[in-house]
Formats: sequence, structure tokens, C-alpha cells
Amino acid sequence: MYSWRVGSSARILVVDDDADLGAVVVAQLERAGYGARHVLTAESGLEALESGSFDLLVSDLRLPGMDGMALLGAVRARWSDVPVIMLTAHGSIPLAVEAMTAGAAGFLIKPYDRAELAAQVDKALCSHAWHAERPPERNLHGMIGNAAPMRSVKADITKAARAQSTVLLRGETGTGKEVAARAIHRQSKRRTAPFVAVHCAALPEPLLESELFGYVKGAFTGATHDRPGRVALAEGGTLFLDEIGDIQPSMQVKLLRLLQRGEYEPVGESRTRRADVRFIAATHRDLDAMVANGEFRDDLYYRLSVIPIWLPPLRVIREDIPDLARVSLKRLAKERGGPDPSISEGGMARLVAHDFPGNVRELENLIERMVVLYDGATIDAAKVEHALRRQEPKYTCGAPSAADLASLDADAEDGKRRALVEALSKSKGNRSRAARLLGISRRTLYNWMERFELDSGPRTGQ
Ligand SMILES: Nc1ncnc2c1ncn2[C@@H]1O[C@H](COP(=O)(O)OP(=O)(O)OP(=O)(O)O)[C@@H](O)[C@H]1O
Ligand SMILES: [Mg+2]
Repeated sequence: MYSWRVGSSARILVVDDDADLGAVVVAQLERAGYGARHVLTAESGLEALESGSFDLLVSDLRLPGMDGMALLGAVRARWSDVPVIMLTAHGSIPLAVEAMTAGAAGFLIKPYDRAELAAQVDKALCSHAWHAERPPERNLHGMIGNAAPMRSVKADITKAARAQSTVLLRGETGTGKEVAARAIHRQSKRRTAPFVAVHCAALPEPLLESELFGYVKGAFTGATHDRPGRVALAEGGTLFLDEIGDIQPSMQVKLLRLLQRGEYEPVGESRTRRADVRFIAATHRDLDAMVANGEFRDDLYYRLSVIPIWLPPLRVIREDIPDLARVSLKRLAKERGGPDPSISEGGMARLVAHDFPGNVRELENLIERMVVLYDGATIDAAKVEHALRRQEPKYTCGAPSAADLASLDADAEDGKRRALVEALSKSKGNRSRAARLLGISRRTLYNWMERFELDSGPRTGQ
């Protein structure tokens, strides 16, 4: 009925050519509560960083092949958001100064103890990740999307992560509000403390109250022992109040007090508790309209929306559809254990042309349906058309007939033509941009323009 998950801690990459020492550093970091992985060379370190899943690098200065200083330079240039701590057995002040000047976040001279290492890592993560003004990342903690509205959402998320204020995430269903909430938590100082989600819509009021605030033994029949609520479980971390627009008026009052003063009482107890949690709320409902017609308290609304962030619907960030689709395909391939199922350019363009009222969730489900339905075969425009039709109730199970397929092909062609016209008008005739919007190559774009007799003007220059 509800879910809660402990937020994952920072991931640290360790580069040291001494396998034993590397293993020791990994063990020390893990004991300090971090996730860590060891590689032997700078080159394999760079490869590991490509995955985008590391938050900090600890590297030995002396390495065979590419050395620690060169690695530091490469990381500063490519992953400016990943702080680097240098280690050396041959420590000297000039080397330390050199590394710090080149942008190292810290320096440790062997032998150092575990506490020193943990202190350096904490300091680097705190001072680096959220104090540096940095451009939004392409893949911010699993948030895919590079279209202008997504870039501005990511910039807002990065700013919100530095603050303690309550964030209200708004947007249609499936636009990634929960993904955004987790990204804020993972970028914030609270990242090593829990991220606890409560789906307010799933619980009737009395249950929601005891889930949030907990209860004491004897509070009601069946309360045989004290049970902490989600607020207490989120202590020091982030409490994600999902579907906040669905809570009842009496619960709205209790939440207001929690948000305003951080105070609450477990069910059956009169002693007031204080919470140290950061609140993030989300809703797909039109809270403004709900406030206007008295369904939602305006004081709670203002308290919640200190930092409002709107997640754009997928139909306004169509150029992100190819990336999202490819990542979904990759994930599914991994789960199925087979080769990556591919998608043809026509198939991609048909996806890009679809409106996706269910947004990213609908896209993910559609891709999964196609991979299962077509058993990993290349997904082309007709297959996308077929799978889209299967969402509609008039289509039942079973393979499509030859006549069905012919009509699907015709629809797919028509869909392509419409998508092409739309992309060209959106890009004001800029063909490179139109091809990007459609997720197809320029060559395919030209082929289509010829096929649909839209081929006018010179081909070069744009
Ligand atoms: N920008 C994104 N990058 C990668 N995956 C995304 C993105 N946005 C959404 N998703 C994926 O889409 C699905 C729906 O996202 P999420 O649950 O965060 O949406 P939501 O806005 O909370 O929807 P609802 O209002 O229905 O609860 C999830 O599987 C999520 O991983
Ligand atoms: Mg959600």
C-alpha cells in the first residue's frame, strides 16, 4: 500500500595499482557507509566513470601508464561534478600543492587512518556536489532528458537539492515526479540518510496517520507494540509525500503542523515529537483548482510549494524520446539476458510522433510490450503502430492478419509523414534539427522528404 526505501549512499571509485591496498580502501569506505569499487589503472578508472554511476574518485598518484595527475586532469575536464581525492605513499608538500592546484578536492598521505579517509570523503562530497554551480547533467541520477524544459527542471533540481525548503513536484502522471524526488535527495546533503516515500492516496486517513506518525502500544486494538512512523524512519533524510492532493481535510491540518513546526504526535501518545526531515511532495492533481474550490487548504498549499517544479509532459520534450526508448530497451535486454533489441529509424520516428498521454511510464510499458510481443526482433514503424493499437480495447489478443498488417503499414506511413511535417515545421526547416527531433539520421530524413514529396530547397547548409 505504501513503499519506503532507504536512499542509496554515494558511490566511490578507487584507483590503485596495488590490489591489496585497493581492497583495503574499498573496505574502509564501505565501513564508512559508502559504496565503493576498485580498479587497478587510470585507464580502467576512466572507463568505469563513463557509466556515470560514481560520485567521487579516490586515486593513487603513482600509477603505471597514465598517472594520477593525468587522471585528475581528465576527470576535471570531463566530469567536473566528480571530486577527486589523491593518495600517495610518496607524499610531499609540492606534490600535494600541485594536485590541489589542479583541482583535487583533497589529499591523503599514506599511511592514513580510516577516520581521515572518511573525513576527506565527507568534506569533498559536501563542499563539491552542491556548492559548485554546474550545468545540469545529461543523466542526473537516472533522470534522462536533455530537451530545454528538462534541462531547466534539472537545474531546478540541483538548486533545490542545496536548500532545505519543501519542494512541490507537479506534472501529469508518469512524467517522473518520483524520479525527480529521488534525484533531489541523492544530490542533497541528506543523501546518506533515508529517502522514505509515502503514497498518501493509497491509505484511508486513520491508516495514513499511523503510517506517518507511528503509534504506541495500546493506541488501538491490535497495537501490541510501539511502531515508528515514516516520519521517524526518515529522520535526518527526506520524506516524500506522494499524491499529496489526495489527502483528507483533517489530515491536511496535521500535515500543516508537521511542515510548519516539524511537530507531530504518534497515535495514542500526547508527548510531542520533533522531526528533522526534508519534505518533498508530489501530485498530478490541479492543486490551484482544488484550493480555489476549497478542497485543499491554501495555507498547506503555500507551505508545500516553496519550491514548485513542473515536470514536462513527454509530448513537449519529444526529442528526449529516442534516449528514453534506448535506455528502456537496454534495461529490458539486460533483464531478458539476450542481445539488445533494436529499433529501426522508422520505428523511432513513429514513437516520437506519438503523444503519450501516460508520458514516460507509457513509453516504458510500450517498449516492454513490443520486446515481449515481437520477441526481441527489430522494432519498426508497423510494429509500433500495432503495439499502440493493442492499447486500445477494440484490439484483442492474437497475431494481426495480413489485411491488418497492410493497414498498419499504411497507418505507419501516414504517421511518419505527419511526424516529418511536424518536425520540419518545429525546426523551421532546419533539417539537422528535424532529424534529431525525429530520432533519425539526416540521410533517412532526406529519403522521407523525397518519398513524401516534401523535398524542396537545397540540401546543404542546414
Ligand atoms: N526523466 C526520466 N528518465 C528516466 N526514466 C524516467 C524519467 N521520467 C520518468 N521515468 C520513468 O517513468 C516511470 C514513471 O515515473 P514516476 O513514477 O517518477 O512518475 P510520476 O510522475 O511519479 O507518475 P504518477 O503521477 O503516475 O505517480 C518510472 O518507471 C520512471 O523510472
Ligand atoms: Mg508517482
